[in-house]
Amino acid sequence: MTSGEARLPVVVLISGSGTNLQALIEGAAAGQPYRICGVISNRPGVQGLDRASTAGIPTRVLDHTAFTDREDFDAALGDAVESFEPGLVVLAGFMRILGDAFVERFAGRMLNIHPSLLPAFQGLNTHRRALAAGVTEHGASVHFVTSELDGGPVVAQARVAVESDDTEAILGARVLAREHELLPQVVTWFAEGRLEMRDGQIRFDTIPLHSALQC
Ligand code: GRF
Repeated sequence: MTSGEARLPVVVLISGSGTNLQALIEGAAAGQPYRICGVISNRPGVQGLDRASTAGIPTRVLDHTAFTDREDFDAALGDAVESFEPGLVVLAGFMRILGDAFVERFAGRMLNIHPSLLPAFQGLNTHRRALAAGVTEHGASVHFVTSELDGGPVVAQARVAVESDDTEAILGARVLAREHELLPQVVTWFAEGRLEMRDGQIRFDTIPLHSALQC
């Protein structure tokens, strides 16, 4: 068990249910070397905020509809994130596209989880598109965030088989269950100092990573 103050402070950005946030909360409670120091949502009243409050984690809501333009929202969000003094920012079901200035501000210390095997199916409705494409394998990816939407260097992936009778909901649930294993694992590696990204190159245990780790 890593003591509280030595654990990496992590801010988690959410927009909805927060099941990935919940997985991170449970990982921290189980003694992983990180702690969730703040949760910020761009939407009020979402379940993820309740999850944070139940766990005693400070929350903030920055409603993007209250801002005149994207740059103002991003600047306010960046200030809110910095107020928690995080070592890592995690986008966990965060449904806003972040501008270059925000991305640069947290370059190398911001991760996102995306429900596909990137670079396949960037963007939305990934499970529906995977089924339509007839792929036999699907999954989730955790990547460092860059200014390219869902395009940053991928750290790790979790794979699931696509079954012939899968619906979007069934496949999505199968992927989501793997997300809940994948994201805490990558956050733990980062908290342990095993992961870094510099000049677009990921290094894992100081060795350049040329393909995603498979979890
Ligand atoms: C997850 O599939 C995540 O990959 C995507 O948003 C979905 C909901 O995540 N970005 P959560 O339940 O809010 O963590």
